[in-house]
Amino acid sequence: MTNTVSPLDKSAQIAVIGAGTMGAGIAQVAAAYGHPVILFDMNPEAIERGINGVKSGLERQVARGKMTQEALDELLARISPATDIAALADSKLVIEAIIEDLGIKRGLLANLEATCAKDAILATNTSSISVTALGAEMEHPERLVGMHFFNPAPIMKLVEIVSGLATSQEVAEVTHATASAWGKQAVYTKSTPGFIVNRVARPFYAESLRIYEEGAADTATLDQLIKGAGGFRMGAFELTDLIGHDVNYAVTCSVFDAYYQDPRFLPSLTQKALVECGRLGRKSGHGFYDYSEGAEKPAAAVVTGGNAPASVQVVGDLGVANALVERIEAKGITVEKQTSESESYLKVGNARLCLSDGRFATEVAAEGNANTALFDLALDYNSATALAVAFADQCAEDAKQDVIGLFNALEINLSVIDDVPGLVVMRTVAMLANEAADAVNQGVCTAADADVAMRGGVNYPKGPLAWADEVGIAHIFNTLSNLQQCYGEDRYRPSALLRRKFFAGASFHG
Ligand SMILES: NC(=O)c1ccc[n+]([C@@H]2O[C@H](COP(=O)([O-])OP(=O)(O)OC[C@H]3O[C@@H](n4cnc5c(N)ncnc54)[C@H](O)[C@@H]3O)[C@@H](O)[C@H]2O)c1
Repeated sequence: MTNTVSPLDKSAQIAVIGAGTMGAGIAQVAAAYGHPVILFDMNPEAIERGINGVKSGLERQVARGKMTQEALDELLARISPATDIAALADSKLVIEAIIEDLGIKRGLLANLEATCAKDAILATNTSSISVTALGAEMEHPERLVGMHFFNPAPIMKLVEIVSGLATSQEVAEVTHATASAWGKQAVYTKSTPGFIVNRVARPFYAESLRIYEEGAADTATLDQLIKGAGGFRMGAFELTDLIGHDVNYAVTCSVFDAYYQDPRFLPSLTQKALVECGRLGRKSGHGFYDYSEGAEKPAAAVVTGGNAPASVQVVGDLGVANALVERIEAKGITVEKQTSESESYLKVGNARLCLSDGRFATEVAAEGNANTALFDLALDYNSATALAVAFADQCAEDAKQDVIGLFNALEINLSVIDDVPGLVVMRTVAMLANEAADAVNQGVCTAADADVAMRGGVNYPKGPLAWADEVGIAHIFNTLSNLQQCYGEDRYRPSALLRRKFFAGASFHG
């Protein structure tokens, strides 16, 4: 869908219903653009709290010199509190951000239909309820659209514009154009469980949890690898501790159930146990990590030792890992290059070092070289501060030392994890890309919007599909196929679209 319509004019009145965490932030965003905003809540104290929250957030900006006092006063003056729904009668766009309950939201929408003008757009900020279901009892469900902001609404760039079955294209387009005018990155999505972000993000948590459950590495090591190699802002364990395990586990369960128990979305027993014993994360003082006073955060397991090699051999084309060769050369280590059509690896001392492709190192070693180690994907091998390596069970001790010596010479924090297929970043990125590809395949969103959504909604360092293009569709497809074979599980089945792209030799972005 391309926008052919204009955003709502600045003079158009916007109403926000529910002055809680999300509603107050959304009111701020609309008022910052210049709209007169009505902030409605059934609880007058909530409105006061909401407006005070907006005010103190803006005061911090004034203190930092990012906003003038005059602009603050003007912005706040544009937000009017209301506890009588009749005050919303002239609003052109009403965004509800009340409690996440289908029955209560439906009741509110019926009231709004009776109160607002016929051409007013009614939007819902729901994160988990179907927009189609919300509109089912409306007289004019074509005017209902999802406008899914992310927390905190004034800061997070993304807004998912969610169309239910009955939503009119014009309503979706005006809402998209309006969110864009407000400075947001708006993406279109069909109303399907999790929309884009809460669906595509599931493997980010699930793969780290699974590797941890298999005992391949501890939480601190996995978090360091996801950040230091993957370039993500937070690891899965510190992030779920921050979100709250009750919330994160509930979202996973709801997406899992909504997709009829598709194993791709299987919740984690470890996370369930944390919820059961009240270790909800930061808010309860304990989750994967202990937040009590004086508690020390565990350190990642990093190996040191070995000797810096004088030279390494590069056999074949390392593809996305060629940047690692640049880093080796920059350290003054001689690199001898050898062409090969059939193989690609680094030879350091007695060890053969290959980029993970979703197989066990032990399995790759069985092809004929016992001294095999696999290394993980990095967002940028030139700047990565951490990396995972797994050794084949057959690998000799001196070969292990050769590998450790190389990465120490490169000043990369090396974590030797147990031999799990796909290691950490490679399998996480492959699964994120797979989920995004499936969403595209099912017409939920475009490839471009899937990437925009994951960058803007959850701050990923790269869109999963752009990342898959960069790693190479063939490598991602093979990684998933190998993971599926290693585990014998449907969870890792490559998306049909990824398979097509692979056989077409195509990519997601041109
Ligand atoms: N919190 C998040 O991170 C987040 C992110 C995206 C979307 N959402 C969605 O936004 C909505 C609101 O979430 P929140 O976290 O801001 O909740 P919240 O509990 O902080 O605020 C909800 C507000 O709605 C008011 N309210 C409840 N029922 C009402 C009614 N019938 N009429 C008028 N006001 C009513 C409450 O008084 C409260 O002030 C939910 O649909 C939620 O799924 C939340």
